[in-house]
Amino acid sequence: MNEPTYHDFLATFGIGGAHPGGLALTRDVVAKEGLTRASQVLDAGCGTGQTAAYLVKTYGARVTALDQHPLMLEKARRRFQREGLGVQLLQGDVHRLPFPERSFDLVLVESVTIFTRINTALGEYSRVLKPGGVLLDLEMTAERPLSAKELEELASVYNTRQVPTETEWAGRLQGAGFASVSVVRGGTVASALPDDHTPPQELPEFDAPQSVDPRLYDIWSAHQALTEKFSRRLGYRVYRAVRAK
Ligand SMILES: C[S@@+](CC[C@H](N)C(=O)[O-])C[C@H]1O[C@@H](n2cnc3c(N)ncnc32)[C@H](O)[C@@H]1O
Repeated sequence: MNEPTYHDFLATFGIGGAHPGGLALTRDVVAKEGLTRASQVLDAGCGTGQTAAYLVKTYGARVTALDQHPLMLEKARRRFQREGLGVQLLQGDVHRLPFPERSFDLVLVESVTIFTRINTALGEYSRVLKPGGVLLDLEMTAERPLSAKELEELASVYNTRQVPTETEWAGRLQGAGFASVSVVRGGTVASALPDDHTPPQELPEFDAPQSVDPRLYDIWSAHQALTEKFSRRLGYRVYRAVRAK
């Protein structure tokens, strides 16, 4: 493996629900969207496919799951096969989604856009949504504007180019063609960490091999150190944005 990345770490350990709040939060925010068997849903940056599997099992929705990481796709494919779920799984890049415009009723994105060229990715979500369709995007959000030094520290682990504040995310969403933008859930990183009261079924899922490149443990500890260090300066928000008609 070349110099491993944060996503290689997540993929190797097979961390499902790799976003603040995990599947419990996903369940809550999606419950309000009135999904049916007819709903066309895209899980963009699906990781190991935990959310996509949940959407098919719970709503019978027509789910497409896309990621660019081969090992994530492999773990997602194994999950869908094991559970006998009909999810369309594709390798692809959110900067250039391989779908015609107006394809989906809901685009769900969980902790993905922050790692991309944000405006390009948001423009793609907007393009593939039907008019009036909904984007739910859960993303790392700065609680206040971060200094160049802070951004550099985050970039050294996450390879992020920027970490927008809530106001900046809202502006970017509007710029990408979304008419109504709101925040449906959020808090600091500290508020989203599992604690002693978190039920076991809500803890992140692991699907790890027996032998692991030791450099991945370094990424894990760097990630944990940053999570603690920035626990009040960084947060997450779930942005709900409706594609303009
Ligand atoms: C933090 S993980 C979150 C995975 C999943 N959404 C979840 O919540 O468990 C970020 C995911 O985004 C994917 N990703 C990052 N950049 C991407 C891109 N440009 N196109 C497609 N997937 C991307 C990574 O491969 C990884 O699976």
